[in-house]
Amino acid sequence: MEIYRIEGGNRLKGEITAQGSKNGALPLISASLLTDEPVYIRNVPRLLDVETLIEVIRGVGAKVKHLKDGTVSVEAGNLNWEITDERASKIRGSITLVGSLLSRVGKVRLPFPGGCHIGSRPVDLHIKGFKALGADVKALGTLIEGKVKKMRGAKIYLDYPSVGATENILLASVFAEGETFIENAAQEPEVVELANFLNSMGGKIEGAGTKCIRVEGVKKLHGTDFTLSPDRVEIGTFMIGAAITGGDITIKPVIFEHIIPLVFKLREIGVNIKVENGKILRVIAKKRPKKFEIRTMPFPGFPTDLQSQMLALATIAEGVSLITETVFENRFMVVPELRKMGAKIRVEGRTAFVEGVAQLIGTEVTATDLRAGAALVLAGLRAEGETIIKKIYHIERGYYNLHEKIRHLGGKIWKETINL
Ligand code: UD1
Repeated sequence: MEIYRIEGGNRLKGEITAQGSKNGALPLISASLLTDEPVYIRNVPRLLDVETLIEVIRGVGAKVKHLKDGTVSVEAGNLNWEITDERASKIRGSITLVGSLLSRVGKVRLPFPGGCHIGSRPVDLHIKGFKALGADVKALGTLIEGKVKKMRGAKIYLDYPSVGATENILLASVFAEGETFIENAAQEPEVVELANFLNSMGGKIEGAGTKCIRVEGVKKLHGTDFTLSPDRVEIGTFMIGAAITGGDITIKPVIFEHIIPLVFKLREIGVNIKVENGKILRVIAKKRPKKFEIRTMPFPGFPTDLQSQMLALATIAEGVSLITETVFENRFMVVPELRKMGAKIRVEGRTAFVEGVAQLIGTEVTATDLRAGAALVLAGLRAEGETIIKKIYHIERGYYNLHEKIRHLGGKIWKETINL
């Protein structure tokens, strides 16, 4: 088994380049199936989740190449409608293949998408959207199946601004006859990225990034050459890394609008953040942060994908911090692991009460999901002594070479293989 071994206590200092966005890349890879012309996506991170989705689309007939500079090219000539590759069930991002294959081929079957076990993760809103557009889509236990004769524009109201459902409806409605309106749409940057990508292929989408998106169906999409935005969750993780270790990290490129909730929260608790041209960020922390409160919410609220890392930060903040998770019901799995390191955390319902301690103590812990794993890395960097993190494959689903980036900043972390 591969593990991280961390010797805590070093301040992280220096400069790093952010990876391309994982959650941005996945729907774009699905969207590249909407044309038979070549599509180039630049700045694609070589992460496990991304590689898995690439393998899955190869399985339905897409020709995918990794070019030298982190660009992925996709040529989707004749496509199958059935995904038999069980790896599709390992990642959440495969759900967007329902929208793209329905649009392109009119039919789809795939294993039920997985991803982190941070909640029940139903697909009712996706299905509601597909049905409104005229498709017949069913979740049948371990499978999702769907077919459509002709997509027709519709008015769709999402009971919750689900990121995946909004993306799927965009993919499903891009060729729909007439107009589609998505009300209470997710406003996350990844939705905007997908809309921009589809528009660069000839799509007609307006309003992405607001609560109401309008799609005017087009007959055909063409190839494109598109550069993916930097990963706001990786950037956020390093920002919290500076805060927890009393470090001084410069990160580029960043898109300031994507990280506003974290910037303001960290400033509130005494972290100095400088922004140059909205693109370069310097995060300087000198002392223990003050206590804080956060409540996760859909964008532009505080992102759930940074909640675990903030929980790690709260463990060493001065005073009692309150962290409320409203997006996923099972996102405190990291709490027992942090407790092993000396953290004082009490969970009541959806809120964690965290009484900051002066020092965490290194020990053996297990990554339970992707962001929980990142939180343990941050805690380990701050802790006294040695921390061993098991099941780091969770972490590698979303962070490319995290240990090397941290070592570049002066952190002591090694990836090792151990026999169990
Ligand atoms: C995406 C991100 C994930 C992030 C999340 C919220 C990817 C691959 N993953 O996940 O990292 O944490 O957005 O920013 O991009 N829901 C329903 N019914 C549905 C769909 C969702 O009830 O049909 C609920 C979910 O259970 C959850 C909430 O809506 O409680 C948010 O989920 P959603 O926004 O859909 O997240 P994902 O797209 O799965």
